[in-house]
Amino acid sequence: MKLLVTGGAGFIGSNFIFYMRKEHPEDLIICLDSLTYAGNLSTLASVMDQPNFKFVKASITDRRAVYRLFEEEQPDIVVNFAAESHVDRSIENPEVFLETNIIGTAVLMDACRIYGIRRFHQVSTDEVYGDLPLDRPDRFFTEQTPLHTSSPYSSSKAGADLLALAYHRTYGLPVTISRCSNNYGPYQFPEKLIPLMIINALHNKPLPVYGKGENVRDWLYVEDHCKAIDRILQHGRVGEVYNIGGHNEMRNIDIVKLICNALGKPESLITYVTDRKGHDMRYAIDPSKIHSELGWLPETRFQDGIGRTIRWYLENQDWWKTIISGEYQNYYEKMYGGRSSAAPLTSDMKGKEE
Ligand code: NAD
Ligand code: DAU
Repeated sequence: MKLLVTGGAGFIGSNFIFYMRKEHPEDLIICLDSLTYAGNLSTLASVMDQPNFKFVKASITDRRAVYRLFEEEQPDIVVNFAAESHVDRSIENPEVFLETNIIGTAVLMDACRIYGIRRFHQVSTDEVYGDLPLDRPDRFFTEQTPLHTSSPYSSSKAGADLLALAYHRTYGLPVTISRCSNNYGPYQFPEKLIPLMIINALHNKPLPVYGKGENVRDWLYVEDHCKAIDRILQHGRVGEVYNIGGHNEMRNIDIVKLICNALGKPESLITYVTDRKGHDMRYAIDPSKIHSELGWLPETRFQDGIGRTIRWYLENQDWWKTIISGEYQNYYEKMYGGRSSAAPLTSDMKGKEE
C-alpha cells in the first residue's frame, strides 16, 4: 500500500507516520509538507533515510506540484493532515486558513479524482460543531450535531468537511472524515496550551491562562488518534464521518495546575490574561459510533499520557529550543505582549531552566 500523508512534518502527522511505520512496516509512505512555521523536518529524522519513506516539500495548494506527485507516485491512500491549525493565528489572519484548509483540500481531492485513489481521508476537528455549555454536562458532539463554527480556523475546517462530502456525493470520491478532540503528546508545536505551559513553567515564566481558565477541552493522547485513523482507513465506511474522543474533559486551569505540580513549579506563575475572541466554552465528543462500528477505544489514560508528554519535553529540549529561538519570538510577543504581564520568551533563556 502506498500512502500519501500530507502535513506529516507537523504534530499529529509525524506521530501518524511513526505509528504506521510501526504497525504497517510494509507500507510505503510519502510525506508531502510545505514546512510552514509548524512543520519541522528534524521531527522526521528517524524515518528520513528509510527506503520505504519519501519526503516531498510542496504546498497542497500548489496544483501543479500536487498533480505531478500523483502522476509520479500513484498513491493508494491520501491522509490529509496538512492545515493551518492554530485558532489564535486564524483570528489574526484568516486568509491563509482559507487557502490551505479549503483550497488545499480541494486541490488534493481533484488530484484524487484525476489519478484515482482507494481512499481520501480528511483529518478534521471537533471544533466544527462549535461549543457546548458548561452547565449541560449531559450533552456531547455526535456526528449528527449541526456544524456551527466560532473561529476562522474552525470555519475553514468545516468548509473542507463539506467539500469532502460533496466530492463523495457528486464524484463518488471514496472519502472518510474524522473529527477529533484536542490532542496532546510529543512534537506538538509550543504555541498550543500544553507544550506552551510546560516550556514557560520550565523557564519560570508567567503561564498565560485565557479568561477564567474554565473552558473545557476533551484531551486525547496523539497515538490513540493515530490508531483511530488507521481503523477508519481499514474498516471505515466511505462517505462517513467518525468522531474521535475519549471522554476526558478537563478545564484549562486544571491542566495548567497539573503541569505546575508535575514540574515542581509554583501556581503563582499562573497569569490570567485577556480571553480569546469567540472562545469556545466546552468540547466533548461522543465516540460511540467509532467504538461500536470499528471497535476503537482510547488506550492511554490521561495521567499516563501527560506524564509521558512532560517527560518528552524535558528530554527533547533541543527540538523545542530551536523552535522558540526563531520566528516564534515575534509571534509570542505579538500574541501575549499586549495581553497581560506575560513576558515573551527570549533567547537568553536557553539553559536557564531548572
Ligand atoms: P500542525 O500545525 O502541528 O501541523 C500542520 C502541518 O501541516 C505542518 O507540518 C505544516 O508545515 C503543514 N502544512 C501547513 N500548510 C501546508 C500546506 N499548504 N501544504 C502542505 N503542508 C502544509 O497541526 P496538527 O496539530 O498536527 O494538526 C494536524 C491536523 O489535525 C489538522 O488538519 C488539524 O486541523 C487536525 N486536528 C488537530 C487537533 C489537535 O489537537 N492538534 C485535533 C483535531 C484535529
Ligand atoms: O479540539 C481540537 C482542536 O484543538 C484542533 O482542531 C486545533 O487544531 C488545536 O489547536 C486545538 O484547538 P484549541 O484552541 O482547543 O487548542 P489550544 O491549545 O490553542 O488551546 C486549548 C485551550 O487553552 C483553549 O481553551 C485556549 C486555552 N489557552 C491556550 C493557549 C495557547 C490558554 O488559556 N492559554 C494559552 O496560552
